[in-house]
Amino acid sequence: MAADEPLVLGIETSCDETGVGIVHGTTLLADAVASSVDTHARFGGVVPEIASRAHLEAMVPTIERALKTAGVSARDLDGISVTAGPGLAGALLVGVSAAKAYAYALGKPLYGVNHLASHICVDQLEHGRLPEPTMALLVSGGHSSLLLSSDITSDVRPMGATIDDAAGEAFDKIARVLDLGFPGGPVIDRLAKEGDPKAIAFPRGLSGAKDPAYDFSFSGLKTAVARWIEAKRNAGEEVPVRDVAASFQEAVVDVLTRKAVRACKDEGVDHLMIGGGVAANSRLRALAEERCSRAGIRLRVPRPGLCTDNGAMVAALGAEMVARGRAASDLELSADSSLPVTESHVPGAHAHVHDHDHVHEVSKDNLYS
Ligand code: KG4
Ligand code: ZN
Repeated sequence: MAADEPLVLGIETSCDETGVGIVHGTTLLADAVASSVDTHARFGGVVPEIASRAHLEAMVPTIERALKTAGVSARDLDGISVTAGPGLAGALLVGVSAAKAYAYALGKPLYGVNHLASHICVDQLEHGRLPEPTMALLVSGGHSSLLLSSDITSDVRPMGATIDDAAGEAFDKIARVLDLGFPGGPVIDRLAKEGDPKAIAFPRGLSGAKDPAYDFSFSGLKTAVARWIEAKRNAGEEVPVRDVAASFQEAVVDVLTRKAVRACKDEGVDHLMIGGGVAANSRLRALAEERCSRAGIRLRVPRPGLCTDNGAMVAALGAEMVARGRAASDLELSADSSLPVTESHVPGAHAHVHDHDHVHEVSKDNLYS
């Protein structure tokens, strides 16, 4: 850990986790999380108003807990980063407001960063600096994309994305049909270990020769699984939950890994990173490892705790912004629930982008004059 690496506190409130992380360069010092997931479970999904209120209550205690764990004082921070989007508008607002208040009170630069780029950047805390370029398969409850990045702070290029449901959303919906609770990913992952992935041949979306090579579709799969379950129930037969879970999961991870490896080969990229909540899936990790090693691609997947939403990922990207001299955000920064994946951060209005490489001219110092 170099002495001149930036010390950054990151705040994440895009969904139901109030996450506060503190990093020193690419070293993780603290990762405090307060989750409201149990409160949402009985509704079968995240209720935005409940999430916002829970963030409000958890915000200050979680920040204090992170500072204590890291053993640093807020005065020593080189910057504060926060998820500016995408995510639930009201939930994002709580994090952005808190980050602005701390940045203003402490006189620290503020970095509004992209949640999706953060899911990729977090891997630096575990496996060191991201190779450039890196192909990233980003699979979460709200997104499923293949992204090619030559610099996570300024160049994230979408190769493909889901045209309907996100991968995590499919896990959550199938878990609901099977009465397994919310969120669905972890429980399906667990049950699938005891099931046969070949028991039922569920469809692989957008996998025909004429289909877009890097886009995904999980809505047809979801319908096929729901119909299959319904037919069993209507026939008065018992639903083999473990086999359904295993076969459904196999259909999802088969398509994800095949398309990701293909994108790497087509683009001549030899590093694949997998991030987002679904990257915690054990079968996805195993199959990706198998297919990558066969194709001569180096696979990087953060440990499961860093795949699901957390504050460390936001701090990791914030630290990278500071390290690369990216322009800070204004204190007028607003949350953007649909912030495009191509915008790794939200530079302030006074920052000048002066060429195609997105090199920002203004140093963070003159933004606070
Ligand atoms: O990244 P994340 O924590 O939040 C979003 O930004 O959406 O992802 C949450 C999603 C949920 O849909 C959840 O079911 C899924 O990630 N997930 C999993 C697993 N753990 C979480 N999906 C499959 N297998 C898992 N082990
Ligand atoms: Zn996420």
